Amino acid sequence: MAGTEGLDSSASLEFTEDWFSRHMPTWDRILTSLKPRKILEIGSFEGRSACYLIEKCADFADGELSITCVDSWQGGREHQQGGMAEAKMTEVERRFDHNMRFALGRAARPVTFCKLKQNSCAALAGLITAGLSESFDLVYVDGSHEAPDVLSDAVMAFALLRVGGTLIFDDYVWSDQPPDKRDPSRMPKPAIDAFLNVYYRKLIPYEWVPLWQIYVRKIAA
Ligand SMILES: C[S@@+](CC[C@H](N)C(=O)[O-])C[C@H]1O[C@@H](n2cnc3c(N)ncnc32)[C@H](O)[C@@H]1O
Repeated sequence: MAGTEGLDSSASLEFTEDWFSRHMPTWDRILTSLKPRKILEIGSFEGRSACYLIEKCADFADGELSITCVDSWQGGREHQQGGMAEAKMTEVERRFDHNMRFALGRAARPVTFCKLKQNSCAALAGLITAGLSESFDLVYVDGSHEAPDVLSDAVMAFALLRVGGTLIFDDYVWSDQPPDKRDPSRMPKPAIDAFLNVYYRKLIPYEWVPLWQIYVRKIAA
């Protein structure tokens, strides 16, 4: 676990990518009814979605708000040299630290923040081992886009989510390959479909949302 001590919080937020803002109207509706106090994010990058969650949820949380951000800050295949979203991950992590410092500093209430710089498989297994099963109100799965990783993220996210909590997957139909050459193991969709089929009786989909993200509520243990 690492902190953001010593970073400058006087400047403004620093982002180079925006994969999140277009989803905000949908998230606004879900968060307003869910009012999550305990949030887990898998895949944080520069912290754009995490900063939004802090700002939005600190506004209406009654009691303490906490957010746990899991990221290897190694990047996925798409962030490597020549990938479709090439990024220098040491700089991405520096911006994440800065942005979190800034967002936490201006939040409407104190927020407990936990940064887990780990592969998601190890981090989520650690949270389960630490006794945090069934404790999160909201889990956002936006880490690796490779199907085997998405599947293990989904299964462990489900274990960590409380009944009544909401699970959101980004990039349901994402691929970095041309349509006629797609390798299903390099896409989230086959893993999300497999997870939703296997957990069919324990989840209920939000029916009014667009398709790029998948939003389901846990209704049974
Ligand atoms: C699409 S970005 C997250 C974007 C962020 N949620 C936002 O809205 O700005 C995906 C992130 O997942 C991380 N990641 C990829 N594979 C991972 C893995 N197996 N374990 C942990 N993090 C991973 C990458 O380092 C990257 O920062």
